[in-house]
Amino acid sequence: MTQEAPEETHDILLNVNGAAHAVTVPARRLLSDALRHDLGLTGTHVGCEHGVCGACTVLLDGAPVRSCLLFAVTVSGQELTTVEGLAAEDGTLGPVQQAFRDCHGLQCGFCTPGFLTTITAGLRDNPRPSEVEAREMVAGNLCRCTGYQNIAKAVHRAADLIAEGSSSEDGRPSRPGSIAAEEEAP
Ligand code: FES
Ligand code: FES
Repeated sequence: MTQEAPEETHDILLNVNGAAHAVTVPARRLLSDALRHDLGLTGTHVGCEHGVCGACTVLLDGAPVRSCLLFAVTVSGQELTTVEGLAAEDGTLGPVQQAFRDCHGLQCGFCTPGFLTTITAGLRDNPRPSEVEAREMVAGNLCRCTGYQNIAKAVHRAADLIAEGSSSEDGRPSRPGSIAAEEEAP
């Protein structure tokens, strides 16, 4: 009987929420699994594992991506933001998180991390979405609990909070990947 060769591994650097992590992973390790199992960042949820539900959405160099469709080795050295990175250093909720709380945008919360990251990127590109645009912004994310009404409301509430934050001195989130930080990036 022949013995299977051990799986080849790769040394990569995962830059997540401003911290660099050197990890050794097999070539086929999914980014979602690397985040959850190798780094312990379990805020990124895995639903369908087929790129359909959006629960696993993280930001890659600021753009929303399905972490269940990417191999971790392909994003080595790039900047990742997970839901854990949306709050300020002191734990203060980021504007999209606060908006979900204010508008009751979540019930079981399983889909929520994907909505939060998606909306964070969406509002950076379109800070004042119309009603239709707010719904389009979240159209790629599935929620089984909420009926989407309060999620759409939360998009507008987050837009208001971001606008208020950018006109006050201390209302700016300080984490990399936060809307304010990305606006300031060259
Ligand atoms: S778990 Fe990635 S899109 Fe559903
Ligand atoms: S809040 Fe339960 S799946 Fe969206």
